[in-house]
Amino acid sequence: MPLKSGAALRAASRQAMASDLIILGINAYHADAAACIVRDGKLLAAAEEERFRRIKHWAGFPSQAIGYCLSEAKIDLGDVTHIAVNRSSRANFFRKLGYVALRRPSPRLLINRLRNRKQVAHIADEIGALPGRPFTGAIDYVEHHLAHLASAFYPSPFREATVVSVDGFGDFASAAWGSGQGTSLSLDGRVLFPHSLGIFYQAMTQYLGFPHYGDEYKLMGLAAYGNPFCRHEVAKLLATKDDGSFALDLKYFRHHRDDIAYEWHGGEPVCGPLFSQALVDALGPPRSPDAPIEDRHRNLAWATQAVYEDAFFYLLNTLQQRNGHTAIALAGGCAYNSVANGKIKDRTAFTKCYLQSAAGDAGGAIGAAYAVWHRTGARTSEMTHAFWGPSFTDAELAALLTDRRAAIEAEACSVRQIGDEQELVETAARAIADGLVVGWFQGRMEWGPRALGNRSILGDPRRADMKNILNLKIKRRESFRPFAPSILREAVADWFVRDDDVPFMLQVIAIRPERRGEIPAVTHVDGSGRLQTVDRASNPRYHALIEAFFRLTGVPMVLNTSFNENEPVVCRPEEALDCFLRTKMDVLVLGTYVVRREPAAR
Ligand SMILES: [Fe+2]
Repeated sequence: MPLKSGAALRAASRQAMASDLIILGINAYHADAAACIVRDGKLLAAAEEERFRRIKHWAGFPSQAIGYCLSEAKIDLGDVTHIAVNRSSRANFFRKLGYVALRRPSPRLLINRLRNRKQVAHIADEIGALPGRPFTGAIDYVEHHLAHLASAFYPSPFREATVVSVDGFGDFASAAWGSGQGTSLSLDGRVLFPHSLGIFYQAMTQYLGFPHYGDEYKLMGLAAYGNPFCRHEVAKLLATKDDGSFALDLKYFRHHRDDIAYEWHGGEPVCGPLFSQALVDALGPPRSPDAPIEDRHRNLAWATQAVYEDAFFYLLNTLQQRNGHTAIALAGGCAYNSVANGKIKDRTAFTKCYLQSAAGDAGGAIGAAYAVWHRTGARTSEMTHAFWGPSFTDAELAALLTDRRAAIEAEACSVRQIGDEQELVETAARAIADGLVVGWFQGRMEWGPRALGNRSILGDPRRADMKNILNLKIKRRESFRPFAPSILREAVADWFVRDDDVPFMLQVIAIRPERRGEIPAVTHVDGSGRLQTVDRASNPRYHALIEAFFRLTGVPMVLNTSFNENEPVVCRPEEALDCFLRTKMDVLVLGTYVVRREPAAR
């Protein structure tokens, strides 16, 4: 048989691909724009656009994330059979019409909604403008919350589960729930605009002086410092309903009558005040972002978290009693409320809980892709790790370090490669145990907002001053916010009150009271920790590093915070090296290369 030419081989391979189902999932024109590739039911790559654009929560069309996903899958757009989008302008269409007819919202609000609808319609044009062979497949628009539900259930280990999405808004709904059964997923109920638990939490976050998109986790951290003095006042904002859902008291909010839809400022979503004068009349003046935090603010944060949890668990318990399931899968922006997530097993009859690493809107990209894939009747496999982003070879890392030698030497740093795996992790572990701050850049970037041991900054959890050291050297973040531990999976029961898998750092669990004093840098004021459980199979090098730290110190965990300095988490080694050089980080482990700032330069 004659040998085929390169072009003929490529053509043959494309023909073979034509029989494949290759789905490009996207979340576009929404916060945390993102893309993924699912080929024959297998996730090959996923990444948020913010990591490439270097603008937090970037909210446009994710062209760079798409480019990355295609290159990782070694295909171009011409090979893609389906593009799945986590938005559908048809979803809840008659409900929208009914709302407009009955409530008569302001013309500006209507114009804004129509503009948003037009942007989604432009997706086909944006796809047409991407480089490479043109896309000739089908575009599938999947309702926003159905995509959330799919992003939670299909990658979960469950064959049968209650699935819940709780959010700000998407496709005119703020929450949805259903049942997952094998390869099918029902959408059984929704909470429609203008009622929203996400809006409730975001409005209170703004009121308490945290105005940026995604600041809700600051309120969540602050809540642990509060006391139950003003629950009653905050509870007025929200009521639960007999069917398990909830309704806002709309007089305290503006989103339903004024034009405060998210705007773009250089790609970052910005949202105007969601709370009304009635809320100010009821709770007093809002805190301005630069004003000191007082007890009143701490107590209101506590009350907000408590009221949120009451509504959230009321919904979960209603669904559990209705469905009888023991497993739950969660998604949507509110699924990042790791404090509430950590209480699910205490406050409901659910005994198993799964959250995918990108539980928020970015995750809608894989939700949409999986929703399309599961029409084939086959089930995708469980997502057990979050490492779906770009990686870089040792040769690329070496070339960067050579290229930047002058800048590295100017900062009095040395570079050496440690080829031996054990010596590499022991060197890093020793540095952490010596109180140094270590940048840890390895393998594929994480999918989702958490650094999980591939784009992380690591420190010693035993040092009471480590939080201040990190804030002084790098993070400069609010002193009330806790840092998180990455703990060996096999050691969880010895250190936390519940033995559980938390691979994506999306649950907060109480640390055993007798252990809290040993790990002050990762123990929050209420004795809890937002842990990440690390198993050998999903990240062998990170597991080995924590084991090495355990051998040195008797403590099977390290402090893990994201590798960034007031920017999106680093993606490329250039960004890691720049962050290392401009901050006072002590050590950078870049693959097998160790860059160390000499003691006199620290
Ligand atoms: Fe959403």
